[in-house]
Amino acid sequence: MNNDAIGIFDSGMGGLTAVKVLNEILPHENIIYFGDTARIPYGTRSRQTIQRYTKEDIAFLRRHPIKMVIAACGTVSSMLGADSPVDDMPFTGVVYPAARKACAVTKNGRVGIIGTPATVSSGSYEQAIHSIDGNVDVTAMACPLFVHLVEYGYTDRDCLITRLAAEEYLAPIRNAGVDALILGCTHYPIIAPVIADIMGDGVTLISASEEAACYAKQCLEEQGLLSDRTEPGRNVYYVSDSVSMFRENARHFLADAVNGQVFSSRI
Ligand code: DGL
Repeated sequence: MNNDAIGIFDSGMGGLTAVKVLNEILPHENIIYFGDTARIPYGTRSRQTIQRYTKEDIAFLRRHPIKMVIAACGTVSSMLGADSPVDDMPFTGVVYPAARKACAVTKNGRVGIIGTPATVSSGSYEQAIHSIDGNVDVTAMACPLFVHLVEYGYTDRDCLITRLAAEEYLAPIRNAGVDALILGCTHYPIIAPVIADIMGDGVTLISASEEAACYAKQCLEEQGLLSDRTEPGRNVYYVSDSVSMFRENARHFLADAVNGQVFSSRI
């Protein structure tokens, strides 16, 4: 048993899609979230820059009492080497949990991946999938506009600009005949209804955020680190830019008003 918080971070607000799931499946856990809103996007930056930001983000979280780190960012997760960036507590990114789910759900052995340019060019999801099942055929597409569309609130199912971008990006994946599609960036679940409309009924969408949250729960259970609190856990949010902007936009990610204190903090 451990009543410290779960530390979770992203380049911005995308990781809130994982916080939302964590609150549902682990309602008694405290959560400390860091969104690097001053430096988003990460997904168009170099590996060296993303790795430096990642170190700083984790160091920031570690200034608080935490028992686990979740990199709720496909881009960060894709830039990590084989070694965990923390050696004294559990850690997960989003890539392996999503790859595991994709291998479990695909029936025709064809899986699509969408993510930021850094994620897709890293080949991280393909590698993770092939480490589980070498026979799965993978088609990946970078969708650089999606993060901006989501951050600026172009998220409605009938939003024309988002739909046009999605049609363009998803065409090669649809043509490949996949039956499972990994939303490999934690911003993308917000526009899942648009993506689902374009991909059609026969394609299962896999949220990397949701899979990472479920994987984190599994890790904490296996290591005996769940909280024994009986009252609801608390969320505390830190951002590297404007608190008011975060409060305004985070509602879309949490599907509710922000449920905790928000602080602006330099890292
Ligand atoms: N949420 C980040 C991810 O999952 C993408 C945002 C960015 O480019 O910083 O990849």
